[in-house]
Amino acid sequence: MTKVIKPIVFILALLPVVLLSRNFYLDELGANPFEVFTRSTGEWTLRFLLLTLAMTPLRQLTGSAWPLRLRRMLGLFTFFYVCVHLLTYIWLDHFFDWDEIWTDIVKRPYITIGMLAFTLLLPLAFTSTKKMMKRLGKRWKSLHKLIYLIAVLGVLHFLLLVKADLREPIIYAFILFTLFLVRFKPALLHKFSFKPL
Ligand code: HEM
Repeated sequence: MTKVIKPIVFILALLPVVLLSRNFYLDELGANPFEVFTRSTGEWTLRFLLLTLAMTPLRQLTGSAWPLRLRRMLGLFTFFYVCVHLLTYIWLDHFFDWDEIWTDIVKRPYITIGMLAFTLLLPLAFTSTKKMMKRLGKRWKSLHKLIYLIAVLGVLHFLLLVKADLREPIIYAFILFTLFLVRFKPALLHKFSFKPL
């Protein structure tokens, strides 16, 4: 099952960046293509982050092992999208003006929080290999619990940058809250499970 699902998910996960780059190249991103690029990669980062977190409850619901096998790949896609997001911010939004970027990090809370989330993702990405998992033993699990804090920071980043319409970040906050609920109160999943837990 995983052998079939994994390559399909891999291709689907690449689609947003491929389509976005194509539309950017063809000048089909509207009046402000840089902003569309930054915003879209930001949203995909958050989506992959939440999808990664959804894999453990999905495993409990279905009783199959495939969600856990996809978790690492989805986590790495989160990192990939945040790198593209950060790069577009540095390159397309600020043209590598490091003074301006530093002022932004210090003065704008949503950038400070985004940067913090990115920094916390770095050790997770670099210890995502099986070798590092073995080497770190129990510490690996503790370290990777940071993903929950990163998700909170990601949602907060979105909430702070939105000026008027809070609906979208609130939907993400609600999804995250639900994921927390089923993660820390797994008994809730009993009602919906497809298998006897
Ligand atoms: C885990 C880390 C991060 C997540 C989950 C994330 C997520 C998001 C989301 C969901 C959006 C809004 C998209 C929309 O408006 O539809 C966004 C926008 C944005 N993010 Fe991030 N982001 C992260 C890290 C960063 C970092 C490190 C930076 C730069 C230092 C950054 C800079 C921005 C900027 C400039 C915008 C657009 C703001 C605007 O157009 O008003 N983000 N991000």
